Amino acid sequence: MIVAAFLALAIAGALGAIAAAAFGAPPSAFGGALALMFAGFAGAASAAAIALHAPGDLTEPRVARGPTHARPLPAEVELTRPVFGRLWLAAGGAFALLGLVPLIALARKPGRASRTGWGAGVRLVDENGVPIPHDRLAAGGIETVFPQGAVDIPEAPAVLIRGDDGGYRAFSKVCTHAGCPVALYRHASHQLICPCHQSIFDVNDGAKNISGPAPRPLPGLALGIDAEGFFIARGDFDAPVGPDDWDRVL
Ligand code: FES
Repeated sequence: MIVAAFLALAIAGALGAIAAAAFGAPPSAFGGALALMFAGFAGAASAAAIALHAPGDLTEPRVARGPTHARPLPAEVELTRPVFGRLWLAAGGAFALLGLVPLIALARKPGRASRTGWGAGVRLVDENGVPIPHDRLAAGGIETVFPQGAVDIPEAPAVLIRGDDGGYRAFSKVCTHAGCPVALYRHASHQLICPCHQSIFDVNDGAKNISGPAPRPLPGLALGIDAEGFFIARGDFDAPVGPDDWDRVL
């Protein structure tokens, strides 16, 4: 029975590791499931070895001739040979299924594990958690904003900018080059500038990268206004935040 319990643990661990790979769980979850599987195998092998071990004082009488018969399993094992064999086969099969993990990783669409805190209907707030009214900024004004209730998420900060036409735009504040905060705004040329390596983004053209090492535009945040006149997001950023190799899930 102990062997069966350990084999069940091994099977559960292997299937858990496959599920973790399939659903993009953190590496710690994948590693934990693998550890459970190997612990199950080790425990099952040890318990089986103990159960099958002949007592030290067991002596087998010699027979002059004729076939010998396999010694039955000790009673405490409480498993028939076919069930015992099937359990080992199932555990081995679950272990073999782990070979699918690289294929699962190849089949899954690349994405990001992290969350930004933005979503449809989430209010924009300042660093003190105060919601932003629709008339907060003058033309050319800029303010750092956060999703309400998620000010501390590193990938959450966005810059809210009001153009000469009175319209507002919002973009991720995290530079797509190396993750510095894009903190400088030159209203005359409607450019956001990253102070780390001088990447420049054109606010009037979707924060497109027009100069410097940044490889792609700043992700945009679609805006709306709720019934009380405060800014809300209409969804998450339209692209992954930050450098391309930042927290990427393969
Ligand atoms: S981090 Fe922004 S340009 Fe390098």
